[in-house]
Amino acid sequence: MFDVKQVRKDFPILSRSVNGQPLVYLDNAATSQTPKQVVEVISDYYYRYNANIHRGVHKLSQEATDAYEKARTTIQTHFNAAHPHEIIFTSGTTESINVIAAGYASILSKEDELLISALEHHSNIVPWQMLCEKTGATLKVIPMTKLGTLDMEAFENLLNPNTKLVFVNHVSNALGTINPIKEIIDKSHQKGAKVLIDGAQASPHIKTDVQALNIDYYVTSAHKLCGPTGVGMLYGKETLLKELPPYQGGGEMIASVTFEKTTYADLPHKFEAGTPNISGGIAFGAALDYMNKIDFEAIASYERELLIYATDALKKIDGLKIYGEASEKTAVISFNVGTIHPYDIGSILDQMGIAVRTGHHCAQPIMDFYNIPGTVRASFSFYNTFEEIDVLDKGIRKAILMLQ
Ligand code: ALA
Repeated sequence: MFDVKQVRKDFPILSRSVNGQPLVYLDNAATSQTPKQVVEVISDYYYRYNANIHRGVHKLSQEATDAYEKARTTIQTHFNAAHPHEIIFTSGTTESINVIAAGYASILSKEDELLISALEHHSNIVPWQMLCEKTGATLKVIPMTKLGTLDMEAFENLLNPNTKLVFVNHVSNALGTINPIKEIIDKSHQKGAKVLIDGAQASPHIKTDVQALNIDYYVTSAHKLCGPTGVGMLYGKETLLKELPPYQGGGEMIASVTFEKTTYADLPHKFEAGTPNISGGIAFGAALDYMNKIDFEAIASYERELLIYATDALKKIDGLKIYGEASEKTAVISFNVGTIHPYDIGSILDQMGIAVRTGHHCAQPIMDFYNIPGTVRASFSFYNTFEEIDVLDKGIRKAILMLQ
């Protein structure tokens, strides 16, 4: 087990104060904090070898290209993709999903069906609705249960030979539910459907092996796992990515251009038009190195303890209701207290230096299911402590006294 006190020293932001109180940062599902080791990789790039990649014969360009491609290999190794060119750098999960959605616009027809889950983030709903509008394909939804899990029987009934694609998050951002992706992938494949896994909320907590799970497409963002914002990845099986048309036209993604005809570059460049977020890509690799050094199993078991401790404490608060009670959960607690608006609790917690997210968490269908406007969401990371949970517990109790 890692030493959390030692780990916290890597995150200078964790020792700042907010509104005169020590910061208690519990909004990790929105974005994680960035350790010094990753920030230093970004500044080192700008201080020492800032240059455009894949284009220059000069030394700086070669160094930048090597570092960027090394990061791609780090990501490939982390997710156990078969080839580095199956990893496409994007601006984040949302763009990764849109790359696939744009690609399928010329592949789908109106007989086709797409299946998403009721637990999706808007970024894994809206692009598919737009795709259905363009192609005439039908979007169907795997329903959820009161516990915040997927109705797997309904899922099987919805699958049919017309189902072309299934989109599911590995972990729900709003509730923390860990979805049974292996079963979903296997059953979808039996019907001939391809599966996209949104790993944005799982990748900071669970090391995913895309080959072992036979994942067709996997997407995530660096900023959820100690990396910078504005960079993410799309993994796709080589055969599938080769079939998809490019997302954007421009420099870098071509093999040759004349005014009569352009041919496209091979993977991964076909999907990487323009100058990318170079320092971000390099830092994405550094963030994975950092987390792997701490060790994902140690992270998962520590966060599990935080979740149990926080759940036990918060359940004792009169009138507090937790949304999302799946037996398999990451360290996320979404809750409301009586009829108090989540925003009011969040604002008072902020006055005490406690950062949580309030609202619908870009998952309005889940809020509609529970018939609530939103929740207060505390989401934990490996650098949080049991003492911080005590501060949260006291903070909520105090907020209730002030609001009732
Ligand atoms: N999707 C992020 C969250 O859940 C922003 O907060």
